[in-house]
Amino acid sequence: MGDPRLLRQARHVEQFGTAELNSLVMDMLDTMHHLNGAGLAAPQIGVDLQVVIFEITENPRYPDVAPIPLTVLVNPVLEFLTDEVQEDWEGCLSLPGLRGRVPRYSRIRYRGFDAAGNSIDRTVEGFHARVVQHETDHLRGVLYPMRMRDFSNFGFTDVLFPNRETVE
Ligand code: NI
Repeated sequence: MGDPRLLRQARHVEQFGTAELNSLVMDMLDTMHHLNGAGLAAPQIGVDLQVVIFEITENPRYPDVAPIPLTVLVNPVLEFLTDEVQEDWEGCLSLPGLRGRVPRYSRIRYRGFDAAGNSIDRTVEGFHARVVQHETDHLRGVLYPMRMRDFSNFGFTDVLFPNRETVE
């Protein structure tokens, strides 16, 4: 946070299946897995392109969090299917060690493409919808604190959740 590259409107990907795009996706996957993240957007590694990735693996310690298949989403377009907004905790690899409660639409449709150019069209809710809104915000230069309404719900992860393992 503080790097101006996180505040840009990212450019569309024009060509799919290229060595450059595949290499970017590999870098992003390595970064996300190395840092134990749930998602990552290209601007977070300094790349000005509309590419996000996300994945939630099944974890018996968090039975309330439904798994999300590993997804590479290029040039995403979101549609909000409800006015209902839910607040829940979010973290971000660009703000390490912090958590905040962020309002998000509870049900969305998202469309876009994978790295090979195959189309993706999903209607999702809950944490899946939250992750997609968080990651696509990065493509517009929006970090989650900019969405927060109450900064009394913002703090250090190890203070807020002293006994819990968490993902970024
Ligand atoms: Ni983030």
